[in-house]
Amino acid sequence: MRAAWYERRGPAREVLVVGDMPTPEPGAGEVRIRLAFSGINPGDVKKRSGWQGSPMSFPRVVPHSDGAGVIDAVGPGVPADRVGEAVWCYGAQSYRAFGTAAEQVVVPAELAVPLPEAALSQPGLLEQAACLGIAGITGHRAVFAAGPVAGLDVLVWGAASGVGAVALQMAHRAGARVLAVVRRAEQLTSVRTMGAAEAWLADDPALVEQIRRAAPEGVHRVAEVDFATHIDVNAQVIATGGVISAYYSSAERPEIPYWKLAFADVSLRLLGSDDFAPAVKAAAARELTAVTTPAGTDRLLTLRSGQRKRNITPNGYTPALCRPAPALGRASQAAHNGITFMPAARASTRSARYCSALFRSDASSMWL
Ligand SMILES: NC(=O)c1ccc[n+]([C@@H]2O[C@H](COP(=O)([O-])OP(=O)(O)OC[C@H]3O[C@@H](n4cnc5c(N)ncnc54)[C@H](OP(=O)(O)O)[C@@H]3O)[C@@H](O)[C@H]2O)c1
Repeated sequence: MRAAWYERRGPAREVLVVGDMPTPEPGAGEVRIRLAFSGINPGDVKKRSGWQGSPMSFPRVVPHSDGAGVIDAVGPGVPADRVGEAVWCYGAQSYRAFGTAAEQVVVPAELAVPLPEAALSQPGLLEQAACLGIAGITGHRAVFAAGPVAGLDVLVWGAASGVGAVALQMAHRAGARVLAVVRRAEQLTSVRTMGAAEAWLADDPALVEQIRRAAPEGVHRVAEVDFATHIDVNAQVIATGGVISAYYSSAERPEIPYWKLAFADVSLRLLGSDDFAPAVKAAAARELTAVTTPAGTDRLLTLRSGQRKRNITPNGYTPALCRPAPALGRASQAAHNGITFMPAARASTRSARYCSALFRSDASSMWL
């Protein structure tokens, strides 16, 4: 099969290779998926670039944990009738070497989550499902780890992001009132569209007052994209007994206002999605699938909003939709260093379609 891989850490254009490698065979309890889309996340980029100095876990890594496609083979112990099933998967490159940046991937059967047959014909649904894994499961846990949120006030930081957008929408669907914070003005509209009752800019000098006015008793849950930067604001707006669930911190050893948090009986949850219990991931996966593949006229979960949709595509794939990263704005340019992106025509994001054009392309121009 064709695949992209790296055998040492470094920038994408220096270490990523595209080539042929043996097609993996599913072992006991595993399935093989022929991928339609591969989902990419910041964590994939961090693993490849050697974030925090961690060593290579395997001699060769095919990146990306998330994807969607159709099961084309099953190993011993897996019902044969799963062949032909449309699925999305998560965890493909979590404690495993070969992820979804390939034409096929093998995963434990329980990580291949069934989609309705309609997924194969419904435009955008497979692509959407390929983006559910890391962002979806993390966003779900950031909201629900401490229990149901119906009737509660949930504050979502970075609510236009991959994780934040899921947290926002899942909380809203579950009956919470969602208060959103974003960094850019154009994101205010999109997060309101996704269900935020109120939305503010992170640098609003009156942010604390605004949140307190909206939630006079304080917010009950916080889904946090940068624990270190926001802990002082959170300490001022959290309700007694509230829970701050953080999935990232820009500082490894953040200072916290200990007594302010303690006097409010606050719980801090620090999330690492690779290491959520299997049952936690499976429960989140079920709920995410249910809202992503609704019956009738219900809307799909919007996995990302606005300007920064980042469908990655090689130069040459659907050229009409391609434009260089700088056109997508400063943040994208900085993060992705001039690699070509396809602005999403739909709500789904962060997926790369595996087509022959992709594998004909020069690896140095393809990947984050
Ligand atoms: N612990 C885990 O298991 C886990 C799981 C998933 C993700 N993560 C980490 O969480 C981070 C976000 O992941 P993602 O997939 O959501 O990324 P993403 O889609 O690239 O989004 C990042 C978003 O967060 C916003 N943001 C970042 N810092 C912010 C701040 N200080 N205040 C307000 N907004 C802020 C960004 O705003 P702008 O648009 O203005 O740049 C952007 O919208 C990454 O660092 C990722 O590695 C951790």
